[in-house]
Amino acid sequence: MIAIRLDNPPDSSRWYPGGGIYRNVWLVKTAPVHVGHWGTYVSTPVVTKSAATVSLEASVDNSSTSPANVTVRTQIFESGNRGKPISSSTAVNLTIAGGASNTNTMTMRIDHPRLWSLQEPNLYTAVTTITQGGKPIDGYTTVFGVRTIKFDDKGFFLNGEHIRLNGVCDHHDLGPLGAALNTRALERQIEILKEMGVNAIRTSHNPPAPELLDLSDRMGIVVMDEAFDAWRRGKKKNDYHLLFDDWHEKDLRAQIRRDRNHPSVILWSTGNEIGEQGNAEGHKVSAELTRIVHEEDSTRPATAGANNLNAGYNGFQKTVDVFGYNYKPTEYGKFRQANPAIPLFASETASTVSSRGEYFFPVSDDKSQGRGDFQVSSYDLYAPRWATPPDTEFRGQDEFPFVAGEFVWTGFDYLGEPTPYGGDSTTLLNFTDPAEQAQIARELKELGKIKVPSRSSYFGIIDLCGFKKDRFYIYQARWRPELPMAHILPHWNWPERAGQITPVHVYTSGDEAELFLNGRSLGRKRISQFEYRLRWDDVKYEPGELKAVAYRNGKPWAGDVMRTAGPPVKVTMTPDRAQIKADGNDLSFVTVRIADKANLLVPRAKNLVRFEVTGPKDRNAYNGMLLVIVRTKSGKAGQIRLKAVSEGLTAAEIVITARAVG
Ligand code: GAL
Repeated sequence: MIAIRLDNPPDSSRWYPGGGIYRNVWLVKTAPVHVGHWGTYVSTPVVTKSAATVSLEASVDNSSTSPANVTVRTQIFESGNRGKPISSSTAVNLTIAGGASNTNTMTMRIDHPRLWSLQEPNLYTAVTTITQGGKPIDGYTTVFGVRTIKFDDKGFFLNGEHIRLNGVCDHHDLGPLGAALNTRALERQIEILKEMGVNAIRTSHNPPAPELLDLSDRMGIVVMDEAFDAWRRGKKKNDYHLLFDDWHEKDLRAQIRRDRNHPSVILWSTGNEIGEQGNAEGHKVSAELTRIVHEEDSTRPATAGANNLNAGYNGFQKTVDVFGYNYKPTEYGKFRQANPAIPLFASETASTVSSRGEYFFPVSDDKSQGRGDFQVSSYDLYAPRWATPPDTEFRGQDEFPFVAGEFVWTGFDYLGEPTPYGGDSTTLLNFTDPAEQAQIARELKELGKIKVPSRSSYFGIIDLCGFKKDRFYIYQARWRPELPMAHILPHWNWPERAGQITPVHVYTSGDEAELFLNGRSLGRKRISQFEYRLRWDDVKYEPGELKAVAYRNGKPWAGDVMRTAGPPVKVTMTPDRAQIKADGNDLSFVTVRIADKANLLVPRAKNLVRFEVTGPKDRNAYNGMLLVIVRTKSGKAGQIRLKAVSEGLTAAEIVITARAVG
C-alpha cells in the first residue's frame, strides 16, 4: 500500500502554487535488477561535424537479496525510429551484490550527428537493456540531443553559434486551468511564445513539470531550470525556508538527475532573489549549491538570479559560474569592468504591467501611472518601482551586447501576485468612474476593507487566456527582425474622446513608419538608436481608420490598420484545432470574439455570452474576447457541438471532432 500525504499550507509561496497532486505521478514496476530511478546520465564530450562521442553512465540497482549476474548494453536510435540502432555500446557483464548498485559508463559514437539546435531540434534515443541468463529483464529509454553549449564573457553559444537569449520567465500554472498539468495547454503556450520569437524559458522559481522539458527538447527552446525562491531566509511564512536545511541537497540532486539528459536545459539556477545575497553566510550556501550542481552535472553552469546590486561585486558573483542580474539594465557595463571574465545575463527583466485592451488617458511616461478600474493601461510604459518598460531593458542589452540575453517577467499572466493591486492599499480606490470611486471609498471607510477583484498578475506579455497584449508585438519586432510586421496601439473606439489627444504607438520590425488617420499623413518617423517604438503622441481622436505603413531601408516592409468598430452584431468562434484526440486530455482552445458587421473586433465589448456544450455556461466578454477550452472524454469519439449565444447578437456554432485514438 502507498499512502501519500500532501500539505500545502497557506502562505507557502509568493504566487499560486497549486494544491494536491497537480502533476503526473508514475509508479514504475521493474524486475529486481533494473536501471535505477533517473539512473542514466548522457553527455556528449566530443562533438564534431563528422562524429560525436556519446557517454552514457547507467546505474544498475539490485533490489533482491542475492547477487545477480547481468549484462548491460546501450543502443542508440534516431528518435522516432526504433528500426536499426545507429550505434551500440559493447555489452558489459556485471555481478551486483544483493541490495547493491553498480555504475557503468558506456561509450558510443554517432557518425555525422544531427545536432540539436533551435531550428532543428534533432533528438536521439538511447535504450539501455539489462539481460539475465540471455533474457531481457529491463529496458530504460533516455532521450537526448547532441549539442554544445558555452557561456563566456561575450555571451551564450549553442553549437559554437552566438545566440542571444530571447527568454521569458513563466510560473507553472496554465491560467484558467489552474496548476494541474495539461501537456497540450503547455504546448500551446510554447507555440504562442515561439510566434513572438522566444527561444528560452526560465522555470521560475521551481523545477518544471518534466513535460515542459520534453516539449522544449522537441520544439527547440533552451531552458533555465530553477530550484529555489528562498534558501534559509524566507519570503513567506510557510515557504521553502522551513525545509531548506533538511531538503535542499536531496531536492537539488533529484532535480538535476531528473533533468540533466534534456538538451534544452542550459543552466541550473540555484535561486531567485535570495535574501542572503548580501552576506558571507549566503555566499557559503551559494558555493555549496554550485558544488552540488557540478557534482551532479559537469556539463552545465550554475547560476542564480540576483536583485541585490551588490551581489555583482561583493563576492556572490564568484559563487556561480554565470551571473544573472534581475532588473539592472544600467549596471551591465560596470559589472563587466569589475568582473572581466564572468559571463553575465539578465535573469529577470521588465515586469511591465498591462491589461489587454485597456488604455487610460492622459498617457503619462511616469511608470507609476497608468492605473484605473483595477486594470493597467496597455501603453506598455508602466511598471513597479524596481521594474521598467521593455524599451529600457532593450537599450541595456544593445549598449552591452556581451550580456547573454534576457528573461522577461513574464511570458504569460499567472495566478497570484496582482501587482500593482497586491499589497499596496493606496491603489485600492483606483476606479475611473467618480461615483464608483466614492462608493468604494465609503465601503473602505465603513468596513476597513474592500473586495479587491485582482487575483492574477498583470506582468504577462500574454494574458491568462493566451490572448496577446500589445507588448507581444514590441518583443516580436525585436526578436523576429526578419518577420515583416507592424502593430498599432491603442484600439480606435473612443467616442467620448472626439478631438482629444489620444497617442498612437507603433511597434515594427521595420526602421521607419508613416501613420495615416483617415487618409491624412500624421508624419513619417524613423526609429533612432536605442528607440524601440514609434510614437505619435499628439494625435487628436476622430473615428475612422488609423493606418501604419512601415519601411525598412527605405522600402515598404509591413503595415497595420486599426478601424473604429461599429456596434456589436455577432459572436464568432475560432478553435485553435477543430480536430482533437478523444483521449481525455486533449484540448481545443476556442477564441470567442464580439464583432461588428464587418467582422471587426468590438474592442470594449463586455456582452454576456452563454455557451452550450451539454448544459449552458455563461461568461462576460472582456474587451471583446473570451476563451472556451474544450476537453475530450477518454474513449468518447464524436462531434462536440459548441454554441455561443448573446442577447441581440447573431449566435455562433462550431463543431469540434474528437477522434478515436488507436
Ligand atoms: C521579482 C521576482 C518575481 C516577481 C517579480 C515581479 O523581483 O523575482 O518572482 O515577484 O519581481 O515584478
